[in-house]
Formats: sequence, C-alpha cells, structure tokens
Amino acid sequence: MRILAGNWKMFKVRTQAEHFFQEVGIELVQSEIRKIVAASPTLLETCLQFATGTGIEIFSQNCAWADEGAFTGEISPLQLKELGVQGTIIGHSERRQYFGESDATCAKRAEAAIKHELDVIYCIGESLEERKTGKTFQVLEEQLKSFIPVAQKNPARFILAYEPVWAIGTGLTADEAQIREAHGFLAKKLAEANLSIIPILYGGSVKTTNFKQIAAIEHVSGGLVGGASLEPKAYVELHNCL
Ligand code: PGA
Repeated sequence: MRILAGNWKMFKVRTQAEHFFQEVGIELVQSEIRKIVAASPTLLETCLQFATGTGIEIFSQNCAWADEGAFTGEISPLQLKELGVQGTIIGHSERRQYFGESDATCAKRAEAAIKHELDVIYCIGESLEERKTGKTFQVLEEQLKSFIPVAQKNPARFILAYEPVWAIGTGLTADEAQIREAHGFLAKKLAEANLSIIPILYGGSVKTTNFKQIAAIEHVSGGLVGGASLEPKAYVELHNCL
C-alpha cells in the first residue's frame, strides 16, 4: 500500500480547507494510493464535507486517551468517531517537543483510538542531538517499545511514520542513506514483532522535488508531509510521485 498523508498542522481556516478540496476535485479518486489529510479540530467537519468524492480520508492530528472526562483542550476518540474522521496522527514530534507527550502517553492515545476503530499514524524519530551523539537507533528502539504492544492489538489500524525531528520544517531532508538505514532498521524490528503489515512513512521536509526519490527507497511506503501538502496543486504532485 502506497500512502500520501498531508499534515496541515495549525494552518488554514475553513474557507481555505474548502478551497483545497474543491481544487483537488475528483482528480485522485481513481488512484489506488491511500490519500489522507490531517487537519485541526475546527476544520474537520468542513474537510469531511468537502473531501467527499475526492478519495481523500480525513484524520485528526491528535486524540485523547479517555472517552470523556475532565481533560480541557483535548479531543476524544468518541468525538472524532461521531464526526466521521477515519483516523488520527499520534505522537507527532511537535506534540512531544512542545506539549509534553511521552512514549507512554502516545501509546495510551493510540490504544484509545483503535478501540474506537480509528486508524493511527504513529510518529517516531530522533532529535539532532541524538543523531549527532550516535543514539538514533537506541532512540527508535525505545520509542518502538511503547508502540509495539499497542500495534499488536490491531496491526491493520497502524501506519508508522519515521520523522527525524531535525528534518521537520527545516528544509533539511534526511539523505537517502539515512532514510534507507532507519527504515531498514524499523522494518526489521516490526518483522520481529510480527508487524510486517504496518507501512512505514518518511516525514521531514518532503517536497514535490524530492518525494519521488524518497518514496523509491526500500521500506518507504509513502510520506507524511507538512508544509508541502498545504496547496492543492502540490498535494496532487506529491501523489503523482508515488
Ligand atoms: P514538514 O513536516 O514536511 O513541513 O517538514 C512534516 C511533519 O511534521 O509531519
């Protein structure tokens, strides 16, 4: 399965979301590539409405670990399910970096999401400091330790995203050798846990100009794309790289 997942982060208001789907139109509907857009909570309903007929699935960018309760500022899997979204990103590095998410909270969130039949794009990746000090594989292995037991509960619901933190939004893409090495490592670890069906996406400064090369690397099933996924034309171009 080839996958293009756009992560809109905290961009766009509803009119812009509407415009995006109107521009993409029915161009991608026949393709066998799985197409996703993850949007802010206030945009989800608009996205669901206007994505109808485009073949693009709508995901949330996060999901709480509880069905309901005193969790100000959170969005619950029940609320997402009620809207009709198909899934959610969990553990994006911006959540880990700025909002205190840990491997433990990410695993709890993922578990709640699959309990409510939401698909999960689960993000992992090393920081620049960790890469520079040779800890990349140690960090990835540690992050996988929380992910694997949850993924084993329902592997078909999961997509893993390898996003080196230093490559996100910086214009610095990991080079081919770094991507090959990291994805090879993750694929081996997933195979050892009987999770080979889980696709692995690369994320971090993916652009229309580099995506074709990246997507051709072994064990890369597609991309989780931030900045470059915001414009409808670019989204279609990214899709056509797969
Ligand atoms: P970027 O973001 O493509 O803008 O680097 C990727 C991501 O955060 O998922």
